[in-house]
Amino acid sequence: AENRLWGGRFTGASDPLMDLYNASLPYDKKMYEADLTGTKVYTEGLNKLGLITSEELKAIHQGLEEIKKEWESDTFVEKQGDEDIHTANERRLGEIIGKHIAGKVHTGRSRNDQVATDMRIYVRENLTQLLKFLATFIETILKRAESEIDVLMPGYTHLQRAQPIRWSHWLSSYATYFTEDYNRLKQVLERVNKSPLGAGALAGHPYGIDREFLAQGLGFDSVIGNSLTAVSDRDFVVETLFWSTLFMNHISRFSEDLIIYSTAEFGFVKLSDAYSTGSSLMPQKKNPDSLELLRGKSGRVYGSLSGFLMSIKSIPSTYNKDMQEDKEPLFDALTTVEHSILIATGVISTLNIDKERMEGALTMDMLATDLADYLVRKGVPFRETHHISGDCVRTAEELKLSGIDKLTLEQFQKIDSRFGTDVKDVFNFETSVERRDATGGTAKSAVLKQLANLKSQLN
Ligand code: ARG
Repeated sequence: AENRLWGGRFTGASDPLMDLYNASLPYDKKMYEADLTGTKVYTEGLNKLGLITSEELKAIHQGLEEIKKEWESDTFVEKQGDEDIHTANERRLGEIIGKHIAGKVHTGRSRNDQVATDMRIYVRENLTQLLKFLATFIETILKRAESEIDVLMPGYTHLQRAQPIRWSHWLSSYATYFTEDYNRLKQVLERVNKSPLGAGALAGHPYGIDREFLAQGLGFDSVIGNSLTAVSDRDFVVETLFWSTLFMNHISRFSEDLIIYSTAEFGFVKLSDAYSTGSSLMPQKKNPDSLELLRGKSGRVYGSLSGFLMSIKSIPSTYNKDMQEDKEPLFDALTTVEHSILIATGVISTLNIDKERMEGALTMDMLATDLADYLVRKGVPFRETHHISGDCVRTAEELKLSGIDKLTLEQFQKIDSRFGTDVKDVFNFETSVERRDATGGTAKSAVLKQLANLKSQLN
């Protein structure tokens, strides 16, 4: 037990399986940089208090630099007794600059405020990176929507053909979800970026360290105002996981639409080879694996959120080892989300659309609402026109016509005398779409406004 940082009061050896079970180094070494930066700034705080001299501080900073290089070049040698990234870095610092000086860096600090600090820095860096990838993803969708603004397609409810819409309107709908995700992520970042450092193990700092100074040095916006909360609050992990879950929910729906649109039956879109795979048995197959993985991987992110929520339910204040279970779900979710954004960006920027198939899928029955609206414009109450238009649909079916547009004026007038010669103008998909020019609608002007509005939210 003597090579452990906390070995003093222990006499018995630990069970080797317990060592493995307890160790977080295999996964928390990802945070080596945050850990070294945390120690760098923390020792500056100790120096301000006169607890370490400026020469000692210099040696410490040089040692930390060296350790960073070792991690970067993959030459850091892990040793038995390195429980986590914090103990590993401190042990190594002792080897480089001597235990006398290295032994001072942890004065007044606990791994409890240390790990909370490292995690917040790590999450902040990752979310900042995600924001950039997300902005690029949204911009890619917006660009497509602008250049393909003239393409129409069926809009669906219950997966049944409902009303004609612009393809760009569909794109803009997901860009709207993702822009909300973008804004929501910024709000999460604000709550992540608070400093626990200087809270000690739980009760606070015994040497009066300047926590505001530490926060500033580490780029935090503020200090967490209660030391017990500072070490035990993992809400920022939960929020990050919830954000990831909701984002992946949007991604899964986006993917599902495209999977459906890419079937031979629909044939609206063709996935590029770069994001498809073949079948080992059926030579003709081209499968939308990228989209299926995007859809499927949403599940593991949901699992990370719910698993971690269960891990921290009912744990007493303040730090408990249960909290070490925050890392694997968090890291897995961050990686999954990052990869998913990049893959989705690739898919949408290389996708081919089949304008003929999209517009060919529009059918005249999708204009039945427009037919009802035609009579509304002539002063007939909508509830009545809805019925009349339904009559027209049924009559056309009974007469085995290919669509309601094939009814003659006479036949229309037999159903309702208020139909005039101008009824033929109803049967135009472009007209239908262009009528919907109120904010948020599918008319060209309305969609272009949506796109501009979404674009203006990205920065
Ligand atoms: N590896 C630990 C974690 O990830 C660091 C904190 C350990 N603190 C303690 N009191 N044992 O949570």
